[in-house]
Amino acid sequence: MKKPVCIAVTGASGGISSSLLFRLAAGEMLGLDQPIILQLVEVPQAMASLSGLALELEDCALPLLQDIRTFDNPEQGFAAADYAILIGARPRGAGMERNDLLTANAQIFERQGKALNDYANPDVRVLVVGNPANTNALIASRNAPNLNPKQFSALTRLDHNRAKGLVAKHLGVNAEAVENVIIWGNHSSTQYPDLNQAQVKGESVLKQIDETYYHDELIPRIQQRGSEIIKARGHSSAASAAQAIIDHMHDWALGTQNDDIVSMATYSDGSYGIEKGLFYSFPMRCQNGICEIEQGLSLSDFSKERMRLTQNELLEEKASVNHLLPRFKQVVDPLSVRGEGF
Ligand code: LMR
Repeated sequence: MKKPVCIAVTGASGGISSSLLFRLAAGEMLGLDQPIILQLVEVPQAMASLSGLALELEDCALPLLQDIRTFDNPEQGFAAADYAILIGARPRGAGMERNDLLTANAQIFERQGKALNDYANPDVRVLVVGNPANTNALIASRNAPNLNPKQFSALTRLDHNRAKGLVAKHLGVNAEAVENVIIWGNHSSTQYPDLNQAQVKGESVLKQIDETYYHDELIPRIQQRGSEIIKARGHSSAASAAQAIIDHMHDWALGTQNDDIVSMATYSDGSYGIEKGLFYSFPMRCQNGICEIEQGLSLSDFSKERMRLTQNELLEEKASVNHLLPRFKQVVDPLSVRGEGF
């Protein structure tokens, strides 16, 4: 039996976690031979509800679940964590402007970045889900000077899966048959769903769909899918977000499947001219626990313009939290990639 790995999850009693935790404990993220310990973190006022969820997890008698620990603070909750899934974030309240939301969440992710730096396993892999996810990942990473920024990521696999699903439905095929879609940029309505590399059974997707439909219907539909779900069910996506988290972490830990490209928001090293240091969604491939940006894709003028627009939004978000971004030099390099100073 393998040694158990420790997965920390914040926002652990929320809607996404209610789908996610049972699936993590059943081995869907790391495989059926990997025992896990769950370290569940909530705000103090949600601890009662979290304890109920922990009881239910216990009652599943799942063979891979070695222990369930609950915490009302990230410092204890992240202790020795091998993986951290940061779902908890302040939702937008009445009268809150976008900048208020950014600032409220910036404080949460500043504290969580510091806690990861000080208490997590030094090669912890971190996925930020709470919105605005890309900028929250930037803040957490910048507050964790002993960790490599490449240990942090933000979730755009949900958008990636949405693009696959919508293309598949349009073409009347199974979603699994749609390969190499790419989401560039921010997990927001400025993201760029790019089908230039996408294929179905070896055939280019763009040769099978009308360009006007792609530009005027499909791109906005994928960009607005989160809002479409909120309008339809009264609250944001939960089960599909949990699926995307499992896909993202599974591929990071165990490698991307069938040579497929996946989308992850990761630390920009300047690839494709994207400002270095932003957390920007790129096409990625993963192997042996390391994910790399897929290089050498040719970009149309349309793509370049869309990529620039979503980059601009991320630059604006960064500017509004700049005062919370400490400047430091990276001091360790646990994933054998060159640490970057800022
Ligand atoms: C989603 O894409 O479903 C969510 O990020 C939307 C939201 O604002 O919660």
